[in-house]
Amino acid sequence: MEVGNSFKELEESVMQDMLKTYSEEAIDHFLNPRNLGQIESPDGFGRVTGPCGDTMEIYLRVNGGRITNATFLTGGCGPSIASGSMATELIKGKSIVEAQNISQDNILNALGGLPEESQHCALLAANALKETVRDYLAFKNEPWKRLYKVH
Ligand code: FES
Repeated sequence: MEVGNSFKELEESVMQDMLKTYSEEAIDHFLNPRNLGQIESPDGFGRVTGPCGDTMEIYLRVNGGRITNATFLTGGCGPSIASGSMATELIKGKSIVEAQNISQDNILNALGGLPEESQHCALLAANALKETVRDYLAFKNEPWKRLYKVH
């Protein structure tokens, strides 16, 4: 058997196994996360650690009340990567109010669901997003105060 072929077969069987647990959408966002990284001097920043001990950070760039860029970082599991990726995709181009209303369910639905034991990973993303919006609103009118913020 050729090495290339056996690697492809292995890859295929790993994918088939993942599809037993996760939707294609969730796997895609986990393997090819969108918006991964930081934004320098963001207009909104939130960091939340969930009960599982994993942390997610979300960064926003806001222009005229619209979110022109959103990124995330997480030290968490695969589903948290998929959730951060989807959460940031869902809010790009949206207003701050729309972003504030994104819930765990919205993220789960957009991902085609997550298994019961991973649903809290979508909650971590939703909570990080709420914290980021709260931060944006707190500094919106006096952005210079951000210089004195203790993280
Ligand atoms: Fe902690 Fe998924 S297990 S975020």
